[in-house]
Amino acid sequence: MTVHHIYPYRSFHRDTLRQQLAEAGIGTLCHYPVPIHRQPCFASRFQGEDYPMAETLAAEELSLPLSPAMTEAEAERVAAAVKAAEAGQAIPQGDPVSYSDISRLTASYGTTLEEAACRVIRSGWYVQGSECRAFEQEFANYCAGKAGLWQLHCVGCANGLDALTLLLIALKQRNGWTAQSEVIVPALTFIATAQAVLRAGLTLRLCDITPDGLMDPMSAATAITPQTVALLPVHLYGRRADLDELSQLADIHGLALVQDAAQGHGLPLDVKSGALQAAFSFYPGKNLGALGDGGAVVTDDGELAAHVRQLANYGAKEKYCHEMPEAFNSRLDELQAALLRVKLTRLDEDNARRSRIAAIYDKALARI
Ligand SMILES: Cc1ncc(COP(=O)(O)O)c(C=O)c1O
Repeated sequence: MTVHHIYPYRSFHRDTLRQQLAEAGIGTLCHYPVPIHRQPCFASRFQGEDYPMAETLAAEELSLPLSPAMTEAEAERVAAAVKAAEAGQAIPQGDPVSYSDISRLTASYGTTLEEAACRVIRSGWYVQGSECRAFEQEFANYCAGKAGLWQLHCVGCANGLDALTLLLIALKQRNGWTAQSEVIVPALTFIATAQAVLRAGLTLRLCDITPDGLMDPMSAATAITPQTVALLPVHLYGRRADLDELSQLADIHGLALVQDAAQGHGLPLDVKSGALQAAFSFYPGKNLGALGDGGAVVTDDGELAAHVRQLANYGAKEKYCHEMPEAFNSRLDELQAALLRVKLTRLDEDNARRSRIAAIYDKALARI
């Protein structure tokens, strides 16, 4: 199951192919060219550890253009170009296709985004107001609908890294985890997943991924030690991690399951057992993207949501009454919340468009 955040195409000649596509005016990206254990900041920490599938995908993955604002003709052009290049033929000439044209996507909303922005500007209320509360409720309802649950809670944050960090800190404080407590993260993900674990003052452990780019439950199982407290799967590329298998594994070992859903807006996040606790990013390129930074924690645990909200607001439940000595200022501002409310109404439609573009690639590139 996928919401097609990214279309990952695998090629043995990835870098040459990328260069050829760039010369033909087709923009691509790699997600991600360096796995976590090979990042300069982590290389000494994970010296001697190998995660072969993460290394293979890091070397072969090429993200093809994918955006709800793309036309089907553009997708056909990209697919034809990849096919020609892989067959050693000249790429047919055509118009440029950018990796993700966010200005075109923004323009496709007509004046609705501008109207929402004007409403906030004129209101004179820019932080912690009715737009953020309304968005939290609407996004919680949206996620609950996808998960087949009657209620979820949402707490808006300043960005996805903060959302994941605050979620981990709240769990640490509630469960009495320590600096030695280990959280297992897939070895191929955006760096923020790993950084959140360290920012929360926990120990980072890695496991390998499946060929789909998702946390490999078998590899995660072998990484579990007596110090392990949580599994942190990522819905990489918009693909749903194996939540059934992973929640069962978490259950057997008494671990928390924390979902990095930064790339998974629109996926059903329900788990077989244990709590639903997920962090989202609303970075502009995400399936639900703000026009700036934003993030959120979504959970079925109302107390956990209240704890995250307090952590994100200087440790205060009431103004000027601070119960947490170490807390943060990490809030979703009114402007971004108002814009996200507009974009949320079109998220399913945008995801369906992503899926149509992906289907064109699937069909054209299946047997290369
Ligand atoms: C998998 C993953 N986790 C976390 C993040 C962090 O989100 P943000 O950039 O909003 O801090 C991102 C976003 O780039 C991401 O892709």
